[in-house]
Amino acid sequence: MAVRRKLIAGNWKMNGLREEAIAQAGDIAAKAMGQDLACDVVICPPTTLLAKIDRAFDASSVALGGQDCHAAEKGAHTGDISAEMLFDAGCRYVIVGHSERRTDHGEGNATVREKAAAAHRAGMTAIVCVGETGAEHDAGETLNVVARQVVESLPPQADGANTVIAYEPVWAIGSGRTPTLDEIAAVHGHIRATLATACGATTEGMRVLYGGSVKGANAAEILAVEAVDGALVGGASLKADEFWQIVSAAAA
Ligand code: PGA
Repeated sequence: MAVRRKLIAGNWKMNGLREEAIAQAGDIAAKAMGQDLACDVVICPPTTLLAKIDRAFDASSVALGGQDCHAAEKGAHTGDISAEMLFDAGCRYVIVGHSERRTDHGEGNATVREKAAAAHRAGMTAIVCVGETGAEHDAGETLNVVARQVVESLPPQADGANTVIAYEPVWAIGSGRTPTLDEIAAVHGHIRATLATACGATTEGMRVLYGGSVKGANAAEILAVEAVDGALVGGASLKADEFWQIVSAAAA
């Protein structure tokens, strides 16, 4: 059975101006400094801050990630950022298909698959987000919805080295509500089964993170759930101390 090293990814979303963001990154880098961490850590800041943050993380083991990328390598796409540009700016990960992109920008599974393929083309790991809405959850559709998103959002070359899945129930994001631990276990188990049947053995090492209201206070119990290989953290990643509490829970 594949041993999957845990990954904690912080998604700063559209938060942070230069001064506070550099201070925050410095605080995180200081906590990581000189530590032989037993998990991987990545911070995905707004694109405007990548260069500054990259410098702050230079000597630490914290990696940098983008929050989204365009599918094309370059061209006439005003306002967009390519995966190659993110790689060039120091990113080794990029989030694709976050529910806020799916909702705000109408991105469907086919678009997400193209963006994940772009991340691979550029040499980055794609963090592919999936998750059911509150209505789908209440209708008992969670497992079907999530399985379909996984199958349709992964490009054929996705494997454990170039792709991470983040299961994020839309209703849990930023709401302070989380599924029960049993529900999380059931969805993660279903994602693993889906990967094994639909995508084959190359996905055995693919990490499946949980995301949605992960906090310092609930991280340890969520990260202890079977088949949870880490967390994608929004709000709590904006506070260095709390974010590090989550990292420490993963590294325990
Ligand atoms: P949250 O966001 O931790 O603030 O709920 C998670 C996410 O959207 O990735």
